[in-house]
Amino acid sequence: MSFALKYAPKILDEVVLGSITLKNKLAEYINGRNLKPLILHGGVGTGKTTIANLLPDAIEGKKAEVTRLKAVEFNSINDVMQMFEDHTMFYQVFTINDQKRNYIISNEINFTPKAAIAFRDVIDDMISHTQFIFTTNYIDQVDVALRDRSSCVMVPPVTAKDWLSRAQWIMQQEGVALPDDQLLKILTTQLQVSSSNRKLLERLEDFVGSVCNPPSNPGGIIETSSTPEPINPLMAA
Ligand SMILES: Nc1ncnc2c1ncn2[C@@H]1O[C@H](COP(=O)(O)OP(=O)(O)OP(=O)(O)O)[C@@H](O)[C@H]1O
Ligand SMILES: [Mg+2]
Repeated sequence: MSFALKYAPKILDEVVLGSITLKNKLAEYINGRNLKPLILHGGVGTGKTTIANLLPDAIEGKKAEVTRLKAVEFNSINDVMQMFEDHTMFYQVFTINDQKRNYIISNEINFTPKAAIAFRDVIDDMISHTQFIFTTNYIDQVDVALRDRSSCVMVPPVTAKDWLSRAQWIMQQEGVALPDDQLLKILTTQLQVSSSNRKLLERLEDFVGSVCNPPSNPGGIIETSSTPEPINPLMAA
């Protein structure tokens, strides 16, 4: 199993967060002080979908039921009405499993201008009982009125230092002992190449692979030791 899956955070506290603003915003939702739709935006692989998936559990204090909209394209008012009419009626009366709120999560939804206007009404009708969580790489392309109704929160790249303790824990799980400064070097070098945490986990996976299964002798060349063999004083005599 790839490290991105194997070591995907299971709870929000396991997500490596690179900004106090982001931490504070998430705390507002967990404490029930913010009910506005949440739009998590930022570069690829920074953890937006992971946070979106784990935030409902943190708000509920238990495994939450969520509805996920699959990369939907809303072309017309009808598309929006069909998707949400039932939800609007149902959710006004009930919440699933006695939850505090209902949750609708969507990665990248695209609206035509008319559909976006219909969606504003849906949000206004559902806001008191339903938490919308959106993730996007392209905040500028999100409908301006949806942004206006929402908390738009950047999920920034994290630093090597932010990653160190979790990366060290991953190394321990893999049975690899590595001093902090060496691991920091690997993390720093990788984060200079890409700020994607997905790629960072791939790098750690490669590293663990190279330690546990060093590459076999390429082309059958016989390696010579760089340190000369110690001379047996008895033989030399
Ligand atoms: N902040 C993080 N802390 C710990 N693991 C992370 C973090 N961000 C990403 N990951 C790891 O990388 C994988 C991909 O993350 P995720 O899908 O949440 O990123 P994303 O920001 O939604 O990416 P995209 O922009 O491509 O949609 C996760 O399964 C997880 O293993
Ligand atoms: Mg995503």
